[in-house]
Amino acid sequence: MNSMKAISVKETSELKGTIEIQGSKNTILPIMAATLLASGVSVIYNCPEIEDVQVMRQLLECLHVTTKLENHVLTVDTTGAAYAPLPAFLTGKLRSSILLLGPMLARWQKAELGMPGGCAIGLRPIDIHLEGLVKMNVDVNLHKDVLSCKSFYLQGCEYHLRFPSVGATENMILAAVGAKGRTILRGAAKEPEIMELCNYLISMGVLIEGVGTDVLVIKGTGVLTSSDYCNVFDRIVAGTYLLMAAALPSEIKLLGIEDVRYLKNVIDVVERLGVNVIKMDNYLSVQSMGKVKAGEFETGIYPEFPTDLQPVLLAVLLKADGESSLTEKIFENRLGIVKELKKLNAKIRIREQEAMIQGGIELQGHTVKATDLRQGAALVVAGLLCKGYTTITDIGYIQRGYEDIVKDLQGVGVDITYV
Ligand code: EPZ
Repeated sequence: MNSMKAISVKETSELKGTIEIQGSKNTILPIMAATLLASGVSVIYNCPEIEDVQVMRQLLECLHVTTKLENHVLTVDTTGAAYAPLPAFLTGKLRSSILLLGPMLARWQKAELGMPGGCAIGLRPIDIHLEGLVKMNVDVNLHKDVLSCKSFYLQGCEYHLRFPSVGATENMILAAVGAKGRTILRGAAKEPEIMELCNYLISMGVLIEGVGTDVLVIKGTGVLTSSDYCNVFDRIVAGTYLLMAAALPSEIKLLGIEDVRYLKNVIDVVERLGVNVIKMDNYLSVQSMGKVKAGEFETGIYPEFPTDLQPVLLAVLLKADGESSLTEKIFENRLGIVKELKKLNAKIRIREQEAMIQGGIELQGHTVKATDLRQGAALVVAGLLCKGYTTITDIGYIQRGYEDIVKDLQGVGVDITYV
């Protein structure tokens, strides 16, 4: 992993070349948590070599699990796994640390961990996770930011999530594996990441009905067997590059996209912007004239347009042929990119959760600061559209989820380097 602190990107006139899309971050993290449910060795292919995966490995290692990551192959050995509290200095680095709660309860009927961290894009409470676990007969205690949970035995339950939270759905599924009887989750999230987790658990021997729907029925089972997994492509990284192609004359290939269904919500939007996307045998062919059509857009619950790509879309709309609007409907504090884009001469107004973006204004390179993962990636995309050079600082945020954004963009002819 490159430990440089900033990225410098030059104004770009066209994109031409190939990008190999990395494995999915938001799929691999719950799968790593799920390995705890069985005793044995699991081999996970196409694992992205990113900061969040490294932190999840350290968390598993606190539980006496051994892990090895080499050439995108992650080996997890849970044979010697043993209970331990998870320290706040690690849990605070990662939102997905909370996903160890379910498997720890399923395996040891107890868990103690510091509060989860993650990108500062909203309040990000965990009330839906905890309410569900209480229904499952778990005693929950939060004292001085340390979460202590225990259960005499986990009891399958029926739980209606008040919002289809991705993390809460994953945590409930993971805990339900160790519960007596069956658990019915209503109003569950339906993201591809949830489907992948369910299919992985099924391969370990768990009985799950309703995969891909908002009603999931999980039947707790006795002994599970560890299982291997081949990770899917990262739909948000692929979406970043599809959106980027809208803003510049482009002829690019995105490799490694095996199931285009996972990108339908993004392809619908980039086609509206003026991009032509063709699914070939083993890649996506992406062509665009670089003329962005202005419009009204909003994020939403899957399968609507993903909140994770909202900052990237916002940056691309700076090139549109008129004023656009973009409304964020998932997180209450995710328009933070606007402050940085204004340093590049962008003209954007905000009214509550809606951004009004004036297209076609000449953007000027400047130094801007990454403050979260997707906002950081969006600033890199904005840098392509600015006169001269743009420097993006604090790129540690970007490296939490993009394995090597510099190498990816160099592959399509961008003049970009770590500095
Ligand atoms: C997952 O976060 C993703 N992270 C996020 O991606 C993504 O933005 C988000 O889902 C929405 O798609 C991972 O998968 C690791 P949520 P998660 O629980 O699970 C509210 C990225 O850039 N909520 O579905 O934390 C919450 O405040 C990251 O890769 C509660 O109110 O998201 C938010 O408004 C960032 N109570 C909404 O639900 C709860 O108990 C969606 O959150 C839980 C959530």
